[in-house]
Amino acid sequence: MIQPADIPAAPQENDALPAVQPSAETLALLARRRSTKALLIAEPGPDRAQLDTLLRLAARVPDHGKLGPWRFLVLEGDGRVRAGAAIADALGADAPDPAFERARFLRAPVVVTVISTAAPHPKIPEWEQVLSAGAACFALVTAAHAMGFAGCWLTETPTYDARARAALGLADHERIAGFIYLGTATAPPTERARPEAASRTSWF
Ligand SMILES: Cc1cc2nc3c(=O)[nH]c(=O)nc-3n(C[C@H](O)[C@H](O)[C@H](O)COP(=O)(O)O)c2cc1C
Repeated sequence: MIQPADIPAAPQENDALPAVQPSAETLALLARRRSTKALLIAEPGPDRAQLDTLLRLAARVPDHGKLGPWRFLVLEGDGRVRAGAAIADALGADAPDPAFERARFLRAPVVVTVISTAAPHPKIPEWEQVLSAGAACFALVTAAHAMGFAGCWLTETPTYDARARAALGLADHERIAGFIYLGTATAPPTERARPEAASRTSWF
């Protein structure tokens, strides 16, 4: 497991940064990265210091206009129970499976809700703000893998129900970019079919 102390501290604005350096380890991680199904994610999850570091890294995503058009809502410990109960209560009889709804977030020790706060802006299109939130999701799950944790990016029904979003404290204009489930895999993953880049690439 990589510890927060092993990761460079946050640079300050205008600090000189190292030139781009080749990283075979990063390429190997991307070449074989794989999500872990939520049901196969168990304790331990990242502790507070590890999570703080992961969120700091996720917040370094490309972000047109330096808006930071996302925020993180961490569900851990009893917070996972309270969040599930709040959503189940908000959905009431409309919840397809109330018991699952209450236990939804207990599938992993830590669930980070990545919330897009995209809003109209005079210069930065909302589309670009939303994309930045998606990038934050990928950065978070990838950084977690690099730290030694299993993870997956899910949306599922709460993402698309305004009552569920309100129950988690989202404002009307906010959207859930993803719930990032984090912990330790109980079984190694296997590869899935992948879209072939070449068949989706054209040259102008
Ligand atoms: C925005 C977004 C939402 C997703 N939501 C779900 C989901 O709700 N349920 C699910 O099974 N997979 C979902 N996925 C897919 C998984 O995150 C994952 O990509 C997939 O299981 C394949 O694993 P891989 O990451 O190893 O490619 C979502 C992916 C994205 C990008």
